Amino acid sequence: MITKKILGIETSCDDTSLAIIEKIDQDCKLIYHESFSQEHIMAKWGGVVPEIAARNHSEKIIHLFKDALETTKINPQDLHAIGVTSHPGLLGPLLTGVNLAKTLSLAYKTPIIPVNHLYAHLEAIHLTHPVTYPYLGVLVSGGHTSFFKVSSSEDFIYLGGTIDDAAGEAFDKGGKLMGLPYPAGKTIDEMSKKGDPLKYSFPIGLRHKKIPGLSYSGLKTALRVFIEKQPHILEDKKELNNLAASYQEAIVQALKEKLAYALPHSSLPIVVGGGVACNSRLRLVLQESYQDVYFVAPQFCTDNGAMIANYAARNLHQKITYPETLNLDAKSRFLKRSSP
Ligand code: KG4
Ligand code: ZN
Repeated sequence: MITKKILGIETSCDDTSLAIIEKIDQDCKLIYHESFSQEHIMAKWGGVVPEIAARNHSEKIIHLFKDALETTKINPQDLHAIGVTSHPGLLGPLLTGVNLAKTLSLAYKTPIIPVNHLYAHLEAIHLTHPVTYPYLGVLVSGGHTSFFKVSSSEDFIYLGGTIDDAAGEAFDKGGKLMGLPYPAGKTIDEMSKKGDPLKYSFPIGLRHKKIPGLSYSGLKTALRVFIEKQPHILEDKKELNNLAASYQEAIVQALKEKLAYALPHSSLPIVVGGGVACNSRLRLVLQESYQDVYFVAPQFCTDNGAMIANYAARNLHQKITYPETLNLDAKSRFLKRSSP
């Protein structure tokens, strides 16, 4: 029996999160998971300010690391590997996590596994459900909305996705127009439960194109024009709930419709991950519309260290040993794409 302890570090946006997974042979157990969310700080700015996020990460990360060691009674030299988000993300925030990983690697010669944040969001399904490959991954987060064919823990092919705003961005920007604090996805989800999703009609981008491509920027503009024409709606609680529900419905229906174009003829299990996968309406609509749909557990949907530790634990062969260089990548230029 071989026991390996793997640290996961997530700092790609505004959540500082660490986790430790204990891997005994092929079984993974989460033995530590703590996060510091900067949501309340970013609410003041109406969105994420990369420089402020990076400063807060560097302030919090050492305290979290100390807590992780004290809670689990693990010495840093006992860590078998360190998984760290290296791409995609905001460069300043990414650097804080990568610096911790590199420092530990220098001090203890611990190998690093550079983790793709998007892949980690989807593979987080394995923290709670054993889903077999290949599966169709639906990644819906604040920064990305993409469909992938996932054939193994490292074989991801991009099938399509948004050409402008991400689903979470549509929630957050729409929420801002409705006067809601950042991030607005969860609030819109809650308000929508008290509203009528059919009260107002909002456009679905690229609706008539039979492709797995999405566009949410027109939806946001439609909401802005709607509110400019009837600003009093923001004062009316009941109507605001109807507006939130109708706006959310357009986001959800777009995903439902476009997912059909991403599925190959032989249907695959569907895995939905990322912050927007917490959305109760999306969960219901996709479950009613498709068979074999698996949602990442809500506690592992928004950015978290457990998904990074989990990805690293499943891909230990990707390790790089100090002093090899670990490169950052703010965008996703490396994604394998399906041929047209
Ligand atoms: O995955 P995530 O933490 O960050 C990125 O990697 O981008 O996702 C954050 C996004 C935010 O846009 C937030 O508004 C959205 O997830 N979100 C939700 C819900 N909970 C979080 N959107 C809709 N409904 C929710 N319940
Ligand atoms: Zn994320």
